[in-house]
Amino acid sequence: MKKTILTGDRPTGKLHLGHYVGSLQSRVALQHEYDTFIIIADVQALTTNWDNPDQLAGDLHEVAMDYLAVGIDPSVATIFVQSMVPQIAELTIFYSMFVPVNVLRHNPTIKTEAAQKGYNDMNYGFLGYPVSQAADITFCKAHLVPVGKDQAPHLELTRQIARRFNSLYGEVLVEPDAMIQPLLKGLDGNTKMSKSIGNAIYLSDPADEVLRKVKTAVTDPARIRKDDPGHPKVCTVFAYQKEFNKSFAPELEKICKKGEIGCVECKKRLAAALNEMLEPIREKRTYYESHLDEVDDILQAGTQRAISVGAQTLAEVKEAMKIDYFG
Ligand code: TRP
Repeated sequence: MKKTILTGDRPTGKLHLGHYVGSLQSRVALQHEYDTFIIIADVQALTTNWDNPDQLAGDLHEVAMDYLAVGIDPSVATIFVQSMVPQIAELTIFYSMFVPVNVLRHNPTIKTEAAQKGYNDMNYGFLGYPVSQAADITFCKAHLVPVGKDQAPHLELTRQIARRFNSLYGEVLVEPDAMIQPLLKGLDGNTKMSKSIGNAIYLSDPADEVLRKVKTAVTDPARIRKDDPGHPKVCTVFAYQKEFNKSFAPELEKICKKGEIGCVECKKRLAAALNEMLEPIREKRTYYESHLDEVDDILQAGTQRAISVGAQTLAEVKEAMKIDYFG
């Protein structure tokens, strides 16, 4: 029996290189080895976008097309829509009975996001989304969750919920392992590439846009002239080179430190490497953009499977919780 992976994204628009490094890459690599579930977390997107539901349908399709374009194979991986799996909502309610509010208040990712959004009076759904995320992960009894570092607190809560449930009501849930990936820096050198910060290169950006954005990336601030010695350690462009131009990075590190390559040349080489990687992704995406009915079929079939898996888990959960009144 294969072990199970669950991971996914909030549909808030097109996916970027941070998603690629943080999670998409490992999903593609592991999809044959694991029974892979990928959630498009539209309910979670509403925790910050509740006032803009018009955007949801479009964003959901963007994310689905990015998944397919990077090589997630719907014949082995189950891509599904969170709001269409009612069992996830039901599990969220049951788990919420034994999650202390203070644990949620102290969640560092919630705190950072709330500060970024300027929330001083948090909505209940936003504060509680890590509980809903625990339901996303446990409804299919996932063993492994590949996610970026910012998701680690949510994974820790999921593990606590699984343990607590099992000790309160009996062994039903699987305690998942996190597979934490490093966060990719944004073009501005900020520690996280993020749509809301506006420092991202999208998987679907055309080649000239990739080059234009790479040119704006911050480099070593101590380097003024082309032949000044560089400090790759503090350079965002070097961080990208290490990730996306692996064979060139060791040589680059040497020649940058000696001031033998200028930032302009280095950026050109990075953009070329990125475009080589992104070209086949863009090509596949273009196909799906003109075959949206195929995308919809994939999402609906995936969601049907998620519902049947969820129904099984929910039945076990209810039985363990003695929610079974009429024999
Ligand atoms: N919180 C994740 C993000 O912001 C998205 C997400 C929702 C998720 N449910 C999940 C990730 C379950 C992993 C597992 O990117």
